[in-house]
Amino acid sequence: MAEPITHTVNVITAEQTITLHVAEGENLRRALLAAGLTPYGTLSRRANCGGRGLCATCGVWVEANVPAPQHWHDRIGAAFGYPRLSCQITVRAPLTVRLVPNKIMWGKPEKARRYRPKPAE
Ligand code: FES
Repeated sequence: MAEPITHTVNVITAEQTITLHVAEGENLRRALLAAGLTPYGTLSRRANCGGRGLCATCGVWVEANVPAPQHWHDRIGAAFGYPRLSCQITVRAPLTVRLVPNKIMWGKPEKARRYRPKPAE
């Protein structure tokens, strides 16, 4: 029987970098929560859409191996420098993500993180 494929996901928090080993195809939000890490802010921790891509409160900064945005929010958010929705990222390669510090609901955009996704994405 073949070994299950896992990917290394480095999660940068305010205090440390934590390395997770995440199964191929796992949802990033679910992997973070299963590891006791939350992509949410102080208010959205209790009030969120549960990973349906509706509330935009589960954003994280993807620092390395940025996957192509699939969700409309992430395609538009890229142009304005918003965090990526962790509930809309399927882990298919190693990733490095940073939890958004001091987030209350959505987190603030950062100009330096703006980019234009390729049309084919
Ligand atoms: S949990 Fe609501 S958009 Fe991700």
